[in-house]
This record gives sequence, C-alpha cells and structure tokens, in this order.
Amino acid sequence: MTIGDAAALAPLLEQLGYPATVDEIRARLEGLDATATVLVASKTALIGFVAVAITNDFIAGRRATIRGLVVAEGSRGTGFGAALLAAAERWAFERGAGSIGVRSNVIRGRAHAFYERNGYRRIKSQHIFDKSLR
Ligand SMILES: CC(C)(COP(=O)(O)OP(=O)(O)OC[C@H]1O[C@@H](n2cnc3c(N)ncnc32)[C@H](O)[C@@H]1OP(=O)(O)O)[C@@H](O)C(=O)NCCC(=O)NCCS
Repeated sequence: MTIGDAAALAPLLEQLGYPATVDEIRARLEGLDATATVLVASKTALIGFVAVAITNDFIAGRRATIRGLVVAEGSRGTGFGAALLAAAERWAFERGAGSIGVRSNVIRGRAHAFYERNGYRRIKSQHIFDKSLR
C-alpha cells in the first residue's frame, strides 16, 4: 500500500463493518511500524487488502495475526483473498513469525470456510469483552 491508498481503503473497511474516515485511515497507515503492514490487491483499481501484525507474546511466542482482510464485493470468489492471505503469510514468515492466526466473527460463515480451505484450523471460540475509554 501507499499513503495514497487511504481513499480506496475506506469503502473496504465499511464492507467489513468498521467504517473510518479517509483521514483516520491515512493516519493509521502513517503509524505503521516494522511490526505491521497492509498489503493490497489491485486490478485496474485497488480491490482488496490484508492487514497483518507480528507480536512477541509471552504466552504464544513470536506470531502473526491477520487484523483485517477484505476483497471488494464485486471481485470476491476469484482468488484475490487467497493471494492476499498467502502474501501476508510470506511477509510474516520472512520476519520470523512461527505461526499466524485470525479472529473471525461467528457471523462470517463463508469466511470461515475460506480460512479452512487455506490451511487454518479452528482452535477455539471466545467471547470478546470491550470497554470504551472515551
Ligand atoms: C473472505 C474474503 C476475504 C475471501 O476473499 P475472496 O477473494 O472472495 O476469496 P477467494 O476467491 O480466494 O476464495 C473464495 C472463497 O471465499 C469465501 N467467501 C467468503 N465470503 C465470500 C463472498 N461474499 N463471495 C465469495 N466468496 C466468499 C468462500 O469460502 C469462497 O469459496 P466458495 O465460493 O466455494 O464458497 C472475501 O470474501 C471478503 O472480503 N469477505 C467479506 C469480509 C470478511 O468476511 N473478511 C474476513 C474477516 S475475518
């Protein structure tokens, strides 16, 4: 990605259910450090992204997490998701991550089939607790 991709990423974040302004997205892209990246897929225009980050976790060791993965509605089912996932895995492996995981909402049944087809195993279900700090 480049900082100029912020406007094209906005509708994709909306499709994922996490709307953000172009300025907010630009600031997040500018804030990425060596432990995180956003990789994009494009045809004539940007049609998908994967956000991935590496953490050194006391419990789990050095591992990567997919923070977001979206292919534009009109371009799904043609392999872009699998290609983005493979690129994220390669990026993480090259930086020493021993494993990669993703948390996916229970409502995303087709996405779960997608991850399983791409080698991911369902290892547990959790409740996520959240608290606003504003
Ligand atoms: C999940 C997603 C990234 C897969 O990208 P993709 O380019 O469609 O994936 P591929 O072409 O490599 O693989 C197609 C498979 O993706 C899955 N898929 C999930 N949602 C899909 C959709 N709306 N349309 C087509 N395929 C979808 C299916 O398993 C599909 O296989 P199937 O047609 O046999 O059911 C994409 O569908 C998407 O952006 N979904 C909405 C956002 C989302 O759920 N992201 C994951 C959050 S954890």
